[in-house]
Amino acid sequence: PGQAYTFALDTGFNVQEQTSSEAAPDVELTLDNGAPYPHPFEYERIGANGPLLLQDTHLLEVFGSFDRERIPERVVHARGAGAHGYFEVTNADFCKNYTMMDMLSENVRFSTVGGESGSPDEARDPRGFAMKFRTRKGIVDFVMNNTPVFFIRDPSKFPHFIHTQKRHPSSHLRDKDMFWDYLGSNPESLYQVMRLFSDLGTPYGFRHMDAWTGHTYRWVKQDGTWSYVKLYAQTMQGIQNFTNADANAIAGSNPDFATQDLYEAIQNGTYPGWTLYAQVLSPQAAQTFKYNVLDLTKDWGFDDVAPVEIGKFYLTQNPTNYFAEIEQAAFSPSNMVDGWAPSADPVLQARLFSYPDTHRYRLGVNHKQIPVNAPINPVANFERDGRMNVNGNQGSRPVYMSTLSKMKLPPRLYNDEEHQQWTGGAVAALAAVNEIDFDWPRRFWNGLSEQDQQNLISNVVGHLGAAPTYSVRQRMASLFYHANATLGQAIADGVGVKVVDLTFPDGPTWFNVTKTPVGSTLDY
Ligand code: HEM
Repeated sequence: PGQAYTFALDTGFNVQEQTSSEAAPDVELTLDNGAPYPHPFEYERIGANGPLLLQDTHLLEVFGSFDRERIPERVVHARGAGAHGYFEVTNADFCKNYTMMDMLSENVRFSTVGGESGSPDEARDPRGFAMKFRTRKGIVDFVMNNTPVFFIRDPSKFPHFIHTQKRHPSSHLRDKDMFWDYLGSNPESLYQVMRLFSDLGTPYGFRHMDAWTGHTYRWVKQDGTWSYVKLYAQTMQGIQNFTNADANAIAGSNPDFATQDLYEAIQNGTYPGWTLYAQVLSPQAAQTFKYNVLDLTKDWGFDDVAPVEIGKFYLTQNPTNYFAEIEQAAFSPSNMVDGWAPSADPVLQARLFSYPDTHRYRLGVNHKQIPVNAPINPVANFERDGRMNVNGNQGSRPVYMSTLSKMKLPPRLYNDEEHQQWTGGAVAALAAVNEIDFDWPRRFWNGLSEQDQQNLISNVVGHLGAAPTYSVRQRMASLFYHANATLGQAIADGVGVKVVDLTFPDGPTWFNVTKTPVGSTLDY
């Protein structure tokens, strides 16, 4: 025994250097402990036809592993595909004026939102566009969607909204009454609903769509000054969408269309690329800006705040192993680096908790040790142990703030106390709906071609018309009518309801906090 122990020490055992079977393609079949095993279809049994034996480690391992193959799928955005690539800064001078952030390689995962992981990837749904960038000092994730806004500006509505996109508790079917009942009684969703029911809701795969951070974030400089910023990624492949009919046909004939399209493009060397733009607004300009910059249902518009190109990124490498590199990827807006900080947008603030929390549930407390999630620089802190701790658990480094072996502390780069954030008293009652909430629905409608307007109407009619309850169809049609009479009347006629007139208070949302109690949207 003494000799065996010495041998283990002499090998300089290093968990990082364990070889994977892929690195040794002529490797022999083994059990999980590495012991050679003669054949995968062999069992230990009594005689030629007798029962199997409990001592058959191979059989137990085969089923013990198989039975645990599925991890929980993402509660939203379960259906997706992804790839690796790189980012190139094309406007360093501009960036340096606003932020100290730097970025290197990246992974991207595209997804739909509502469907289960096996659902058709051409469904009408927003598309997720999650990016993980490695910097020299930490990982920053941009967890974006293919839309500049979102359905909500009040985070507590998210589970309600998502439940209405999932299956009905008793029928276990997706339910059009639930879907439209929610949207009709939460009018701040309308702009996002109109984008979703235009042909933008069925993009041609993942390569032909743009993406936005949606939220306002903050770019911070080393001297502590900061600006509000939104990022926008413009496809180099050009925007291309399916019509409703084509999307339905593709979803039926090839439910993996978007996944296949991305994989084959990269395999053929037609690397998809996007140009990244920033829209920047000073805190002072935000105070008088026409929309509340903390309201996720409001776009800034390129004519409101001009976008400035900051870089380009390309997807150049398919995953070698989908599960390891894409399914286990854990994107989170809370993955930030110096120079990139959250704004006080309440939906963003809620997301900062929700993503790491779901990752602890979906992948485990040590999910950041999984190679696709691990930073390229070493992690040093006082978090230890827990399930699936696989990278050496920070070795013998002290597990507390020790005076005997001191932890090196980096300089504090900026001081928020000196540079108080402006919140404009805006946070309390964002859910109250005002006339300004119809601004973007009108801008969007007026910007559509006649054909796109017709498609929007027929896409809504086809879907909303299938909601059985009259009042649900009526309320939704009336909201469209309030945004634009032609649009609303056509939808009302199509779904067989009479529109009713709706009124909403005037003025920017954040000035009506006391006049319009939260929850009033449900009362009309
Ligand atoms: C995925 C929560 C709003 C973009 C997810 C996941 C959760 C979640 C729990 C699953 C994460 C995982 O299992 O890895 C929320 C909450 C929101 C919200 C609570 C609002 C209160 C948004 C918004 C955007 C967004 C506004 C875009 C601007 C995404 C994307 C993914 C995702 C792209 C998929 C990430 C991936 O590919 O792994 N969200 N979300 N979400 N969310 Fe959200």
